Amino acid sequence: MSRDEFSGFFGVLVATVGSAVGLGNLWRFPYLVGQNGGAAFILIYLAFVLIICLPIAISEFIIGRKTRANTVRAFQILAPKTAWSGIGIVGVLAAFSILAFYTVVGGWTLDYLVRSVIHIFAKPDISALESQFTTMVTSPVRPIVWTVVFMVVCALIVMCGIKKGIEKYSRIMMPFLFLMIVILMVRSVTLPGASEGISFLIKPDFSKINTSVVLAALGQAFFSLSLGMGCLITYGSYVPNKENLTKLSFTTALSDTLFAMLAGLAIMPAVFAFGISPQEGPGLVFIVLPRIFAQIPMGNVFAVMFFVILLIAAITSVISLLEVVTAYVTEKLKLKRTVAVAGITVIVTVFASLSSLSQGVLKNVTVFGKSIFDFFDYLSANILLPLGGLSIVIFVGWYMKKSLVYQEFTNQGTLKGTLFRTYYFIIRYIAPVAIAIVFIDLILR
Ligand code: PFF
Repeated sequence: MSRDEFSGFFGVLVATVGSAVGLGNLWRFPYLVGQNGGAAFILIYLAFVLIICLPIAISEFIIGRKTRANTVRAFQILAPKTAWSGIGIVGVLAAFSILAFYTVVGGWTLDYLVRSVIHIFAKPDISALESQFTTMVTSPVRPIVWTVVFMVVCALIVMCGIKKGIEKYSRIMMPFLFLMIVILMVRSVTLPGASEGISFLIKPDFSKINTSVVLAALGQAFFSLSLGMGCLITYGSYVPNKENLTKLSFTTALSDTLFAMLAGLAIMPAVFAFGISPQEGPGLVFIVLPRIFAQIPMGNVFAVMFFVILLIAAITSVISLLEVVTAYVTEKLKLKRTVAVAGITVIVTVFASLSSLSQGVLKNVTVFGKSIFDFFDYLSANILLPLGGLSIVIFVGWYMKKSLVYQEFTNQGTLKGTLFRTYYFIIRYIAPVAIAIVFIDLILR
């Protein structure tokens, strides 16, 4: 049977941007910006995206398309009988680790979407909204039920395959997503008092910068672009030979960053306009935004719109995470796609239930001093993804034959490859050194 493939440039692009644009942009990015000093954090983030992440994205696509295999086998093909395939295994584990908390937030989103449709937000008073959120996330059953519903939707899409599932769904949803975030952004920046929020996003305060802020920016850049865990290796394995991988990576990074900025502009001005602290943390979009929606004309419409955006963004990212594991399991165990996806869904649900419960009844269970939920988040974004990224650049820059990398970069010599030297220099020297410095600094502290 021939391997499934994306239909062309636009098909791969919407799927990849769908993977990149997710809760990372709408939920994680705004609260990290709030907690880490605003514009200065954004500048460091942008530098990481451009200098480190973009070349890593190209490298992952090169590995995937060259081998046309899942992320573990890709390394086995390129480096037979070596330990390099460990990168792929760690990637699959990272996918589980992200799915374990991400799908829980997907469940919260469904809960809040339904609330916003039937108007059951507490009075527009921040402490009531806060306790509404806390009651929901700490309850033992309700968020798990929503998480399961969310998982099933994602699983059904992945079961339909690449072209007829992931691509088809992303083609419908992604343009709609961009349109909606623009509308929401315009609403937010035109609120009276919005300017303070805008200046928070554009005026850097470098006194807030320290190593953990830099690590958070690096981790967020990896997380937001879906890098370092073989997601783009997996998607790359379905990219037709004629597509330009550099162009694809660049457009993805640009769209994802644009979306993060739009999300920041949709959220922060509103937060400031209503005199709320931007350091609210993970509850920011669930507690603060309902309060804002309650106070603006047609707020209900905007509330529904916001949670629809959050839901779509979460789904298109979760399907990419599921695909990493699905490709591995179907190819390794020769299982049918539907069976593999069903099995993976059950396992993810078990871990997700644990992280959901860690908000409430299992609050006192800690792993390395963190709740189970926070542990999965920290482990994947701040450790596994940057480490995976580091290994990938070392692999492509130092282990793979340069001519092989060049061939794939230039589509077998048919593209000019003007940027190849810059790309190669970055993955050999700049990216590994930069990632290593951030890590070593963290360990020595
Ligand atoms: N990039 C996604 C987001 O920003 O929400 C999260 C993610 C998806 C990370 C897929 C990693 C991945 F492989």
